[in-house]
Amino acid sequence: MTVPYWVAGKPSTSPIRLDVRHPADDSLVATTSLASAEDIETAIAAAAAARAETATLPAHVRATALMHVSTRLAERGEELARLITAENGKPIRWARVEVSRAVSTFRWAAEEARRWSGELQRLDTDPGSSGRVAMVRRVARGPVLGITPFNFPLNLVAHKVAPAIAVGAPFVLKPAPATPLSALALGEILAETDLPAGSWSILPTTNEVAGQLVTDPRLPVVSFTGSVEIGWSIRDAVPRKQVVLELGGNAAAVICPDYTADADLAYAAARIATFAMYSAGQSCIAVQRVFVPRTHYAAFVDLLVAAVERLTVGAPGDDATEVGPLIDTAAARRVHQWVEEALDAGATVRTGNDRVGTAFAPTVLTDVPRTAKVHREEVFGPVVTVDPVDSVDEAFAAVNDSRFGLQTGVFTHDLGTAFRAHARLEVGAVIVGDVPSFRADQMPYGGVKDSGTGREGVRSAMHDLTDDRVLVLTGVEL
Ligand code: SIN
Repeated sequence: MTVPYWVAGKPSTSPIRLDVRHPADDSLVATTSLASAEDIETAIAAAAAARAETATLPAHVRATALMHVSTRLAERGEELARLITAENGKPIRWARVEVSRAVSTFRWAAEEARRWSGELQRLDTDPGSSGRVAMVRRVARGPVLGITPFNFPLNLVAHKVAPAIAVGAPFVLKPAPATPLSALALGEILAETDLPAGSWSILPTTNEVAGQLVTDPRLPVVSFTGSVEIGWSIRDAVPRKQVVLELGGNAAAVICPDYTADADLAYAAARIATFAMYSAGQSCIAVQRVFVPRTHYAAFVDLLVAAVERLTVGAPGDDATEVGPLIDTAAARRVHQWVEEALDAGATVRTGNDRVGTAFAPTVLTDVPRTAKVHREEVFGPVVTVDPVDSVDEAFAAVNDSRFGLQTGVFTHDLGTAFRAHARLEVGAVIVGDVPSFRADQMPYGGVKDSGTGREGVRSAMHDLTDDRVLVLTGVEL
């Protein structure tokens, strides 16, 4: 059976077959199809036509639909987690976490939809505007094109879809071609709601066809999560559209001198090992660079290597597995090649650097030149580098010596250092006492520099999808 895609709220298929294969063993998970040109046109036209109806949906209708999705995701949790594992190769324990995050993302959107009200601004602050008051509402800019990556095939879809529904914007979602099934399953749940049918479509397409969607004037908002190069090329292609970009990073963790007691170092090493390697490093905020006081460098490297070697690498469907395969062989080959390049430039492998098919062994590198790709670019694989530093300032400068700026983890107990990190680090978020990989779905999430523009996190995304519209009342007693 071919899994249908969704066009203006209705299931559809095309003759253009899209096989989804399990990254671990290349077995066929399911077959869907790439949306036909006619279905794509129908979806865009329907989104444009549904704009007014969707924008005026009462808050309770939007909130009820969102809460229904949250509840149904929870009810179908294990099935969806297995689907994520099958199409993405993510270990089932992490797939379960992703589903529970998606439950939370939709629940937050339901709550925010009810709160989303605007503000009153008094204007009688100068003689010329006595008796005047402004009501400022944020109104949807219009239909949203959401483009999502393979690494969180459900929750990063949720981050495009849920805020759009919350503000009353129609959307057309293009899931990653490698992992469309979780998004299509979400479509089954959306089809159970009372949302206007024309207001939503989920269309697997090639990345080339996505280029046509990006330039279509009927989709004035583009919210993209994915690679740096494609993201900024979207922004360049449509400078007059509202473009939100959640792109890559080479996230760092800093161990501060006050965090070097044995228990602290062991905790930091365990957290860094887990979150450098989770999802086989295929997260924009996976730990990639670690900076450690020189005095405790050797001890920390030993702890980190031991923690990495304790991770259970294996079949993604097993409950015990912590690290699974990468998305495909090409990705694993590229990661291997970047590690080899670093070794040629003088780096040392402390553990790992072994590829079998799509699997790449969790790898710890030291002595890595700062010019190496594993340092400067986004590895998106299970590889972490560790550098000694002589001061917190040197560590912060090293973190900032990057074209990216997504999140940084700062291991410190000192409030002053935490504030200094927040003031100085050029990133979207500083996580104190933990890895940069921490993300709660309601918090603003996004980067500076090449890491992107705009923010996810339900309320922040709602802001990005809307514009201020002011109503000035005259002759009002205040
Ligand atoms: C990402 O990789 O961009 C998202 C990470 C997350 O949501 O945890």
